[in-house]
Amino acid sequence: MKEIVLSGIRATGQLHLGNYYGALSKFVKMQNDPESKYINYFFIADLHALTTAPEPDKLHENVKSILAEYLAAGLDPEKSTIFVQSDVPEIPEMYLLLNMHVGIGELMRTASFKDKARKMLGLTGDNDENIEKEIIGANTNKRVNAGLLTYPTLMAVDILIQKATKVPVGKDQEQHLELTRRFARRFNSFYGVDYFSEPANFDFGGEPVKVPGLDGSGKMGKSEGNCIYLLDDEKTLRKKVMRAVTDEGPKVPNSPMCEAVQNLFTLLKIVSTPDKVQYFTDAYNNCSIRYGDLKKEIAEDILKVTTPIRERIIDIQNDDAYLARVVKAGAEKARENASKTLRDVREIMGIRPF
Ligand code: TRP
Repeated sequence: MKEIVLSGIRATGQLHLGNYYGALSKFVKMQNDPESKYINYFFIADLHALTTAPEPDKLHENVKSILAEYLAAGLDPEKSTIFVQSDVPEIPEMYLLLNMHVGIGELMRTASFKDKARKMLGLTGDNDENIEKEIIGANTNKRVNAGLLTYPTLMAVDILIQKATKVPVGKDQEQHLELTRRFARRFNSFYGVDYFSEPANFDFGGEPVKVPGLDGSGKMGKSEGNCIYLLDDEKTLRKKVMRAVTDEGPKVPNSPMCEAVQNLFTLLKIVSTPDKVQYFTDAYNNCSIRYGDLKKEIAEDILKVTTPIRERIIDIQNDDAYLARVVKAGAEKARENASKTLRDVREIMGIRPF
């Protein structure tokens, strides 16, 4: 019996190099491995996107661009089930049912909820006591919507409804996965069944690839100037890399590197050949390095990866008929599992036909 691997991405904007190396390229590799022990489901979480920023004019475009990016990067609808969350009506129904077993308190204590709620209310600092009062007292303009609170329920349903047992997620999603396991256990024990298995984080093996951002600290994220999108054109991409934060340059041989410069070397390692990495490392160590040259090399090597992908994204985005076929076939496959699970869950919970 093959295990099911499932992963989703929120439809909140274009994919960047971090998404590509951290997740997408690994999905493609797994999908194309003939020895793979897994059945793959990849989906676009458009309902989750609604929890923070409902923008009717942008949502569909965002779904479409991620779908095109998935396909352009090599996800193959013949080999993987690729679908849009909102095309599976069984998900919202099971979300309602599972919510009956989820505590408001445990949801309110979730780190990502507190972060986002704080932003919605315009609070600074991280005084937890305050935030609960603020949420309860919030007026109708600056409210924290209930959909945000129940975000983990929806994510648990995405996973459990497909009976996925392996879920590749980054650090920021581990708590959600932990909640999924807890909800699965709770459901089983409440109804005295052994129905859901507990999903685990999926480790692709090898070293995890963390793509650093361009602003000098931390990993690549969507903030301005920090991030390279797969869809960035050549000029934009070069400009962003040339503007990446550095320092004054080494003055003494073999100096330690500041974080910003380390980040550039990490990028170089991801996109370039070992001899180029060696060349620039030597240049840094003997103080002859020119960051401009290093950045040019990085930009050119990123472009070698992203240009063909970008061209494919654009072609695919323009092919509405193809996209429509892909999501229709994906939804059919996703609904096969989902409707079976929902039928069982309704039965277990006592919702029975006459
Ligand atoms: N919450 C995930 C994120 O923001 C996206 C997501 C939604 C997801 N449902 C999922 C990821 C199910 C894995 C499995 O990254």
